[in-house]
Amino acid sequence: MDTGSLPGHSMRTFDPAACEPRHIYKLMAGIIVPRPVALVSTVDEHGIANLAPFSFFTGVGSVPPTVLFCPTLRAAGAGQAVQRKDTLHNVEKNGEFVINVVSEALAVAANATAAEVAPEVDEFELAGLTPIASEAVRAPRVAESPAQMECRLLQVIYTSHAPGGGVIVLGEVLRFHIREDLVEDFRVDPAGLDAVGRMAGNTWVRTRDRVELIRPK
Ligand SMILES: Cc1cc2nc3c(=O)[nH]c(=O)nc-3n(C[C@H](O)[C@H](O)[C@H](O)COP(=O)(O)O)c2cc1C
Repeated sequence: MDTGSLPGHSMRTFDPAACEPRHIYKLMAGIIVPRPVALVSTVDEHGIANLAPFSFFTGVGSVPPTVLFCPTLRAAGAGQAVQRKDTLHNVEKNGEFVINVVSEALAVAANATAAEVAPEVDEFELAGLTPIASEAVRAPRVAESPAQMECRLLQVIYTSHAPGGGVIVLGEVLRFHIREDLVEDFRVDPAGLDAVGRMAGNTWVRTRDRVELIRPK
């Protein structure tokens, strides 16, 4: 097999074992694009709501409907173990969460909820968003989001316990809520949903430039 590259396209190869973790993260955030943004709501053991965006997020299967998102572990202070993000703490404590889809109208507020604040800070208030009750879980939904999924935790998988280590939160969707005007015969109107995604760094992307490709039989 030819191990070279296409003419005019020489490749740079990186062995992660020889790279710093922050550089590996940059490579991943740069090539795994665009990533949809899950604005995840949870509640802590005192009933305080928490909200944070996660772009390492996808659907897994539809029977039962399953989704996952990945809160990475943070480096803690000297001599301390790694720190779990508040979202992960709450999910592990209560076994419930809501994924709120982020439209362009919601993007600035969703970004504001990524501020690293103390657990007792309610990010709904911080970002000026409206909590509304869920049907099947205690975590509230974000009223401004065009679509929300109420989820029950199925499994948490730690890929490592090091700072930067990935944690997969796998959940079953118990309820889908989609704005009435955006869904007909189970088809969701992508223009009305107006979802945004994340690229590397501070760059986001719209979903307004779409193409159709007919799938082969
Ligand atoms: C658009 C966007 C996407 C993000 N995606 C992730 C992600 O996939 N995983 C992660 O650990 N942090 C991600 N972050 C950072 C978290 O949102 C941030 O650490 C947040 O403060 C965590 O909040 P919490 O401690 O309340 O859970 C993202 C931030 C932004 C702005």
